[in-house]
Amino acid sequence: MSGKKSLWSDLHKRLFETSSIILSVGIIGVISIGGIVELAPLFYLDSTIEEVEGVRPYTPLEQLGRNIYVREGCYNCHSQMVRPLRDEVERYGHYSLAAESMYDHPFQWGSKRTGPDLARLGGKYSDEWHRDHMRRPQSVVPESIMPAYPFLETAELDYDNVRAELRTLRFAGVPYTDDMLDAAVSDVRTQLDPYASDYDGFQARYPGALMRDFDGNPDTVTELDALVAYLQVLGTMVDFSTYEAEADENLR
Ligand code: HEC
Repeated sequence: MSGKKSLWSDLHKRLFETSSIILSVGIIGVISIGGIVELAPLFYLDSTIEEVEGVRPYTPLEQLGRNIYVREGCYNCHSQMVRPLRDEVERYGHYSLAAESMYDHPFQWGSKRTGPDLARLGGKYSDEWHRDHMRRPQSVVPESIMPAYPFLETAELDYDNVRAELRTLRFAGVPYTDDMLDAAVSDVRTQLDPYASDYDGFQARYPGALMRDFDGNPDTVTELDALVAYLQVLGTMVDFSTYEAEADENLR
């Protein structure tokens, strides 16, 4: 046996194994190294999310629809995250990317699925289908146990404070510009009118946003307009025919 080794084990015994305080300090020291290695880089990175083309902040109307989704507790039965598992990808489409919910406050991932995942819902059904479904789910899915929300199509949408809401979201990191804030209230109406005079301005602010009357009643801006606008944009911002993820090989 080498002298060095016995000296070390001697020290080890005397120092760490006879004093619980020194042992505790030693344990904390060793664990901290692991912690620092994991945490320190986060303070130097601007974002841990890989940016993906096409992801834009919600339009004011979509954001208000999202509020209704949260208010009505739709998340109690619906998640919004397609997991990278084969059965989910085959049922719902491409698995969700972190970037797709980077402007969601609060996020709606969830794990409660009494109803199907809604992360890739946009474009799956027509506005009419959504109207019928919200009015009485059983009219389009006879075996449905989803509750009806018929009041949404008569409730007028309250959008007076939407500018303040977008401003608040900007504090949370959503890149709304001053231009977007100033136009927020009128953009609610602009999105509902495919012949709006500010069509080009709106499309420049929110590229690709759908512009039409979502509830089939052009006279009133209703909560159903906002909710359907939101449901129709879910999962449609990223063009997956051109998207190539670095880690995609893991799933092939
Ligand atoms: C009590 C649970 C429950 C709640 C709450 C609920 N849903 Fe559902 N939802 C379901 C079930 C079950 C289905 C599947 C049957 C059907 O299509 O109606 C469903 C289906 C859907 C679908 C069709 C999805 C697809 O891909 O076919 C949409 C859209 C939807 N719900 C939206 C909503 C919205 C918006 C809210 C809130 C206003 C909501 N749901 C609240 C249970 C619920």
